[in-house]
Amino acid sequence: MFHSNIEFMPAKGGQGGVTMKHLMSPLDFTIEELETLFNLARDIEQNPAKYAHACAGKVLATCFYEPSTRTRLSFESAMLHLGGQILGFSDAASSSAAKGESVSDTIRIISCYADICAMRHPKEGAPMVAAEKSGIPVINAGDGGHQHPTQTLTDLLTIHSLKGRLDNLTIGLCGDLKFGRTVHSLIHALVRYPNIRFIFISPEELRVPDYITDMLKEKNIPYEEVIRLENVMPSLDLLYMTRVQKERFFNEEDYVRLKDFYILDTAKMELARQDMLVLHPLPRVNEISVEVDEDPRAVYFKQAQYGVYVRMALILTLLGITVD
Ligand code: CP
Repeated sequence: MFHSNIEFMPAKGGQGGVTMKHLMSPLDFTIEELETLFNLARDIEQNPAKYAHACAGKVLATCFYEPSTRTRLSFESAMLHLGGQILGFSDAASSSAAKGESVSDTIRIISCYADICAMRHPKEGAPMVAAEKSGIPVINAGDGGHQHPTQTLTDLLTIHSLKGRLDNLTIGLCGDLKFGRTVHSLIHALVRYPNIRFIFISPEELRVPDYITDMLKEKNIPYEEVIRLENVMPSLDLLYMTRVQKERFFNEEDYVRLKDFYILDTAKMELARQDMLVLHPLPRVNEISVEVDEDPRAVYFKQAQYGVYVRMALILTLLGITVD
C-alpha cells in the first residue's frame, strides 16, 4: 500500500478548516518528498491497473490561459487513467477572462465544479493568486517566464529513471535561458543535489537571469556561461535543449535573429559521450534536427511519457488518495 507522507505549501484559503495543498514551485517538495513521489510514479508505470479507478468520482479542472499541448493533455490523460473526469478551458478567449473576470473569482467558481485544478497563465504569480482564494488544490502548470514545476517533476523523474541518479551531473542548458521557465525551475530543483555543475549555453541576449546566477554563487554551485555548444558537448552528462520563447519577445526582429542560433544535429551529437542524454521540454521548433530523434541518447519523447506518470502521482498525492 502506498501512503503519501508529502506535505505541501498550505494555502490561506480552504474549506471548513481543512488545510489545502497546492503546488506552486518545485521547492515545495523536500528531496525526501520527491523521492516518495517518484516511487509512486514508478509504481504507477509498472502497475497501471492498480490505479485505474483511484480517482473515480473526482474531477480535474484544467484552466489554461496560454497555449499548451503536453501539460494540459498530460494532466487530462493522468486524471482519465486514474478513473476521474475532466473539465476546463484551453484558451482565455473562450473563458469569462475575456469579459474581464479575475483569476481569483474564476478559481472560486472552479472550486464549485472540480476537486483539483491545474492552471497555466501568462502572468507570473497568477496561480499563486488563485491558490489564495481556492477551495481546492491548485497546481501551477506554468506562469509566464517564472516557473513550471510539473515540467521539473517530469524532468527529474526522467533523469532519475534513465540516468539512475540526480547527483554528480554536469548539465548543459542550451537556448533561451532568459525566458525559459522550465530552465529556471529545473536549476532551482537540481541545486539541492550534491556535486551538480551547470554549463549555460546561450547567446548574450538570452543569458540566464542574474537572480539565478546570484543564487548559484551564494550556494557555491559551479557554473559557466558559454556561447558555442560544440565546445562543451564532450563534457556533458545531460543536454537540456530549449526553444527560443517567441511569445515572450517584445519585437519580432530579435526573435527572428535568435530563433535558429542553436541547432543540435548529428554532427554535434558525435562530439558527445555515449551515455549523454538529450532532454527537451518540447515543443521543438528548429533547435533539434529531426535526424537526432533516432539517436538512443535523445529521450525527449520518453520524457513526455514520464510526465503522465508523475502527474498521476501528483494528483493522487494532492487529493490524499492512497491505493492498496
Ligand atoms: N513542456 C510544455 O510545457 O509543453 P506545452 O507548452 O505543450 O504544455
